[in-house]
Amino acid sequence: AAQQREVFSNRSVFILAAMGSAVGLGNIWRFPYVAYENGGGAFMVPYLIALLSAGLPLLMLDYAVGHRYRASAPLSYRRLHPKAEFLGWWQLCICFVIAAYYAVIIAWAGSYTIFSVTQAWGDDPEGFFMGQYLQVADEVGPALDFVPQVLIGLAIVWLALLVVMALGVQKGIGRFNVIFIPLLLVMFAAMVIMALTLDGAAAGLDALFTPDWSALGNSAVWMAAYGQIFFSLSVGFGIMVTYASYLKRRSDLTSTALVVGFANSSFEILAGIGVFAALGFMATASGVGVSEVVSGGIGLAFIAFPTIVSQAPFGGLLGVLFFGALTFAGFTSLISIVEVIIAGVQDKLGLNRIAGTVAVIVPLAAASLLLFPTTTGLNLLDITDAFVNNFGIVAASLVAVILLSSGLSALPGLRDHLNAVSAFKVGRTWMIFIGGVAVVVLGYTIIGQLTTVLTEGYGDFPGWYVATFGWGMAISLVVISLILARVPWSQRSRGAQPSP
Ligand code: PHE
Ligand code: NA
Repeated sequence: AAQQREVFSNRSVFILAAMGSAVGLGNIWRFPYVAYENGGGAFMVPYLIALLSAGLPLLMLDYAVGHRYRASAPLSYRRLHPKAEFLGWWQLCICFVIAAYYAVIIAWAGSYTIFSVTQAWGDDPEGFFMGQYLQVADEVGPALDFVPQVLIGLAIVWLALLVVMALGVQKGIGRFNVIFIPLLLVMFAAMVIMALTLDGAAAGLDALFTPDWSALGNSAVWMAAYGQIFFSLSVGFGIMVTYASYLKRRSDLTSTALVVGFANSSFEILAGIGVFAALGFMATASGVGVSEVVSGGIGLAFIAFPTIVSQAPFGGLLGVLFFGALTFAGFTSLISIVEVIIAGVQDKLGLNRIAGTVAVIVPLAAASLLLFPTTTGLNLLDITDAFVNNFGIVAASLVAVILLSSGLSALPGLRDHLNAVSAFKVGRTWMIFIGGVAVVVLGYTIIGQLTTVLTEGYGDFPGWYVATFGWGMAISLVVISLILARVPWSQRSRGAQPSP
């Protein structure tokens, strides 16, 4: 018999869990850099338009699918239409790959929380990160040359995740987010306030917010805004489909999406302020312009920030707050990514919570531990992130919006579902945003990305490496998902039963 489906105990728990997913590395280390590079203060215009015309509508679409069909991504899409099932598997496969390396970054951030106290990097943060800590090798790899301190940190992340996920939707995922998201907000706000008191903070804010209005005429800036919004809201990963399936039947979906979307963007802007205040201090301390020290991603977190921590008054505290926030923000996103996989596997095989959790986390942790905490793991992380997280997600979202809008004409039904449970109603505009704006923007983005990589290759990697771990990996995810969509559902599974 089908078990009672798990639920979040109330809407606030769902909102905190959805924020936990949305607020991640993208808010902290991606947004500030993207905004700076794409018009500074003027970036706010395309950014807000992207949020309203694509981010929020797609978030509502994900909520509608999960809440209406009350199942994991593959089963929800299957219930929507058998032809759509593979979409759910594709998203699930993408989540599998992302989870494998996302956990590594969380392990680094956790270690750096401790290093902030001990100032383990001495006076050479870059040499420490690449050398002593990661022990990055000269060859491309992959090689099974393990780096013990990273391996141990990563094993701890997977163990912690195993415990949270085994506890289930409300007691594990819900409770963890209810505790750690408020804590994360407080820590991060404290970090921003500390950063604002540093010498040179104003120069940093000037650098971030001085508008370059000519950027508005540049289509690359608009693509960057849409790209940031898609990435930041975690739409198109199956995550919001999965989480929304745990909302009780009578739950206001559209206002929830507005709350989550605006909370995520507010956090992002707060992060921009904190990060640039700190960068302004770093530039002032070394007597250079802010533009000389600006960075994003791994370089910002693991090279620039340690430098700031070493130089700032109460730097140790600043570091603990920054890296602690990065750790929690990453971990709550990882929870959501892995839940997509667990829910899908549970549904397909008819497994209970514990069995589903073990069946997913054991192979996933094994792959992650085998591939990434090695002397060549950084290369693998770089290429999988580029191909799976950047192109993969855009491609999967594009196929989803085309299929749902023109292919299967699913939007009117989903609109009715949203309106039946929500106070804020959506209508034709919503459908045009999805079937029109999102299709055009995603299509344009993927064409641009593909041409660049096809003509210029990726980074400094040799062709065979990009072919195997970039293209090979990305294409095999599509093939695997097409196969999984043909594997029959277990007789015990909910997919074998008629839709609710
Ligand atoms: N949306 C998250 C962020 O902004 C990151 C994320 C990526 C979450 C992939 C889930 C899946 O950082
Ligand atoms: Na985000």
